Amino acid sequence: MTFEGRVALVTGARRGIGKAIATAFSREKAHVVLNDIGPEDELKAVAQELSCGAIQAVPMQADVSRYDQVEKMIQQVERMFHRLDILVNNAGIIRRGNIETVTEKEWDDVIGVNLKGAFNCCKAVVDIMKRQRYGKVVNVSSVAGKTGDITSAPGYGSSKAGMDALTKTLARQLAQYGINVNGVAPHAVETEMSAEWPPEKRKAIIEAIPLKRLGKPEDVAETVLFLASDKASFITGEIIDVNGGFVMD
Ligand SMILES: NC(=O)c1ccc[n+]([C@@H]2O[C@H](COP(=O)([O-])OP(=O)(O)OC[C@H]3O[C@@H](n4cnc5c(N)ncnc54)[C@H](O)[C@@H]3O)[C@@H](O)[C@H]2O)c1
Repeated sequence: MTFEGRVALVTGARRGIGKAIATAFSREKAHVVLNDIGPEDELKAVAQELSCGAIQAVPMQADVSRYDQVEKMIQQVERMFHRLDILVNNAGIIRRGNIETVTEKEWDDVIGVNLKGAFNCCKAVVDIMKRQRYGKVVNVSSVAGKTGDITSAPGYGSSKAGMDALTKTLARQLAQYGINVNGVAPHAVETEMSAEWPPEKRKAIIEAIPLKRLGKPEDVAETVLFLASDKASFITGEIIDVNGGFVMD
């Protein structure tokens, strides 16, 4: 799979799944824009790690939940590369708790990053992709969007279910412009987000997965690359499970 000459923007690329996605694109010779809101030095370090000869990896700090910041970032991408072929909406946050303990702010924060963040990025790139008559959007959702989740606060699964509906809506609206919009729905991937699980919880989670292991960020990354490639050109509005068989639908 080669992405030579393509430009990919990955949000939340400083660590975890986003870093694995950016690394995989870079390996396949795409220029990668790494977005994150976290510590700038960490994002720069990842970009430096991935830059290799003519293959560029550029760090761009922006809060995806803020349209003004996203718009500025996309303008910068356009000035730099004059195109944008691939958008991966990966940035996400989670909060724990239930309907009684969750605060209004926690709900707004999670919906703001996970759902509105994806909307903001799609809105900001659509003109470029339409003009190119080429674009691939891949949204990193979660199994929680399909099944709900007992431990995360209600906003998390809700944001991911909303993201799945956004994927299908934009897939229908943008197909006529040569833009594919798809998603992946991971479950239990070993990252900083899942590192907080106590050992008993980790054991129970693995037990419930038919393939009997946690996911690796690379498992998700390779599926994202497939959806962003021309091998998947007849696929749009699809959300692929990357969950070891935990949910089969
Ligand atoms: N880890 C899992 O088990 C799992 C399972 C299903 C889905 N997911 C989804 O995969 C995605 C990545 O998860 P991860 O486990 O790598 O998480 P992570 O917390 O390790 O990484 C998320 C990254 O997003 C960045 N980010 C947060 N808010 C941002 C914002 N407003 N703007 C820009 N960047 C922001 C963070 O700084 C961080 O670098 C998330 O959308 C998550 O919901 C993860």
